[in-house]
Amino acid sequence: MDNDYIEMPSGIRMPKIIYGTAWKREQTAALVVKAVKHGFRGIDTACQPRHYFEPGVGQALKELETFGIFRNQLFLQTKYTPISGQDPNTIPYNPNAPLREQVMESFAVSKKNLATNFIDSLILHSPLDTHDKTMEVWRAMEEIVNHAGAKQLGISNCYDLLRMQQLYKDAEIKPAVLQNRFYKETNFDKNLRKWCAENKIVYQSFWTLTANPALLQNPIVNDIASSHHKTPAQVLFRYLTQTGVAPLTGTTSDTHMAEDLAIFSFELSATDVNKIHHLL
Ligand SMILES: NC(=O)c1ccc[n+]([C@@H]2O[C@H](COP(=O)([O-])OP(=O)(O)OC[C@H]3O[C@@H](n4cnc5c(N)ncnc54)[C@H](OP(=O)(O)O)[C@@H]3O)[C@@H](O)[C@H]2O)c1
Repeated sequence: MDNDYIEMPSGIRMPKIIYGTAWKREQTAALVVKAVKHGFRGIDTACQPRHYFEPGVGQALKELETFGIFRNQLFLQTKYTPISGQDPNTIPYNPNAPLREQVMESFAVSKKNLATNFIDSLILHSPLDTHDKTMEVWRAMEEIVNHAGAKQLGISNCYDLLRMQQLYKDAEIKPAVLQNRFYKETNFDKNLRKWCAENKIVYQSFWTLTANPALLQNPIVNDIASSHHKTPAQVLFRYLTQTGVAPLTGTTSDTHMAEDLAIFSFELSATDVNKIHHLL
């Protein structure tokens, strides 16, 4: 089975597992083509040359057309990365411009890189140092949605519930996504995830496997995995998708791509979900 989808308030369908393209440099295009041919339909990138080669995603989209897979069949997510997250030598917009202009310029670069006239999901890579500045950026992102450039908005690396609530309160277009590191140090964002679920915000997880070796080695997770003839990584991803979280995976391996998509071919029982729930 291929992807399963979440119906978003904006009307778009967001895949329950998303292929991430960070750190792939010149391999980006080939890996995205491979991932989509395996069945991934969601792609995450960023206008942040330090970690992402966004034009490689654009090249992949072009190549995929030759296999009969078109832009409108894919969920494409990119980010505006504030100056603090950019390499000073490769900032893809004028860092001296006002924030609104930075966002607009970054978005124009993304559209060019991706050779598309719309983005399904536009993410603010991290909050700025004050709420006012975050809102200045958010207003520019809202403008993009209002001009049909993006279909939904989100935020990333926001680990503070109060900040999230402030953004939600002041936003005209409410955040649809929170993309965060999923790990023990933040108590797996339990409070944030609960609040997000109550407010129709989908939590996307990263570092899901790399930051959680203890979870993947846990005997309970391993017993559940054996009983389904699956790997502990598949069980963790399945647990997340069954509890409303959309994990990102940036695997480079054919086997792992196939395994990551095969999570939709089995279902964890309520008892298993509960057992994993207690490990977090
Ligand atoms: N918003 C942010 O600030 C931010 C930060 C970091 C990442 N992200 C996004 O999240 C994406 C994923 O990044 P990540 O940090 O979670 O890690 P990742 O790049 O997906 O790395 C996962 C690691 O786990 C290994 N692995 C082992 N078994 C696997 C399995 N069954 N499925 C998948 N991987 C398996 C992979 O190795 P193999 O390659 O050998 O499979 C890889 O080394 C990024 O590409 C990016 O789009 C966003």
